[in-house]
Amino acid sequence: MSILVAAGLMVVFCFSFVLLFGAPYLPTLKHQQQQAIGMLGLNKGDTLLELGCGDGRMLVTAAKLGINSVGYELNPIVFGLAVITTFKYRKNIKLIYGNFWHKKLPPAQGVYVFLHSRFMHKLDIKMSQQYDKTSTRLVSYAFAIPGKKHIKKQNALYLYEY
Ligand SMILES: C[S@@+](CC[C@H](N)C(=O)[O-])C[C@H]1O[C@@H](n2cnc3c(N)ncnc32)[C@H](O)[C@@H]1O
Repeated sequence: MSILVAAGLMVVFCFSFVLLFGAPYLPTLKHQQQQAIGMLGLNKGDTLLELGCGDGRMLVTAAKLGINSVGYELNPIVFGLAVITTFKYRKNIKLIYGNFWHKKLPPAQGVYVFLHSRFMHKLDIKMSQQYDKTSTRLVSYAFAIPGKKHIKKQNALYLYEY
């Protein structure tokens, strides 16, 4: 019984500590993933970054289109799910365990996020710092970046350029 309680507490911990650094796990629906990839204008051979990649389903959608991707995930349970989900497409998908705020982001043509309003300003700063010499597009699901003009809005998806 105590093992079950400990396991339950561990699961609760994994899903709640992430709230300090970003949004909790909630996946983007398939048609919204496809819309986001379309807005990012990604083509075969391009690279997509997903900051907080959840169970990796967006990365799989991209891989099926020949797009390479890098996904960051902090929740260890969800990261484990992503490893399983993306296994078949592991040549195109690189998964990185950890807090993306502390990572130097690699060059990419597109970035996708589904975070929370309270992190959008911080994201704007990180994107501006990391992609000051390149042209990189960002799609944010549900949350706009305060003070930055989006170049397109389609349903709940906001498109930005850095
Ligand atoms: C709302 S979910 C979106 C999942 C996925 N991007 C999708 O749209 O299907 C946010 C994900 O980001 C992860 N996350 C939040 N903050 C993070 C951080 N600072 N570093 C890495 N992952 C983070 C959460 O664990 C969660 O899986």
